[in-house]
Amino acid sequence: MIEKKATTSVNINDLIASRWSGRAYDPDRPVSKEEIIPLLEAARWAPSCYGDQPWRFIVFDRRNDKTGWDNAFSCLSEGNQVWAVNAPVLILSIADTLFSRNGKSNRWAQYDTGAAAVSLCLQATDQGLMVHQMGGFNADRARELFGIPDQYIPMAMMAVGYQLPLDRIKGETRERELSDRQRHPLAHNFFEGRWGNAYKI
Ligand SMILES: Cc1cc2nc3c(=O)[nH]c(=O)nc-3n(C[C@H](O)[C@H](O)[C@H](O)COP(=O)(O)O)c2cc1C
Repeated sequence: MIEKKATTSVNINDLIASRWSGRAYDPDRPVSKEEIIPLLEAARWAPSCYGDQPWRFIVFDRRNDKTGWDNAFSCLSEGNQVWAVNAPVLILSIADTLFSRNGKSNRWAQYDTGAAAVSLCLQATDQGLMVHQMGGFNADRARELFGIPDQYIPMAMMAVGYQLPLDRIKGETRERELSDRQRHPLAHNFFEGRWGNAYKI
């Protein structure tokens, strides 16, 4: 995978700095079940409110389930389809809006599902895989196609695969894949003591 390590203000964990959302997938390099299971296992061990584990993930592997993958792909926005077409695996993350312990509304379900998704992404980075999350997909269509009950919210489709070797990435895609990663300055999003009071470093 192309190294696009974050330019951080201080040293941080290498895995966190190395994760990024590429778009140039190698269509000829499948991802085996043995490689997928650790991704799910990493998500499984994410923290969650009351330990409720509100996340659900549906895996679509083009090699083993072409129809399922095609259906998942058909949910993506046109802009995402352009590049996600080469991802051998798509994974849909879903949040359970109700606590399994008492059936009450779980306002942390989406937060927890996001945490599980990041764990999955970091595990993928560690395995040399690339994951790109997408909010650009038709959640209603996914709900219908995959029989997702009303109490669950389809959150993001994730493209999973190996990156195309750099010498095979051409044109605009190459430029985009090599472009710098950007973040707001730390003080923009992180406060000290009260809202809006920039954390000083
Ligand atoms: C919930 C969520 C939805 C996203 N939706 C899309 C999307 O529909 N299409 C896309 O190309 N990237 C999407 N992204 C990727 C972000 O654009 C990307 O994470 C961000 O630009 C930071 O880049 P990095 O992940 O390489 O650090 C999404 C990311 C997240 C977490």
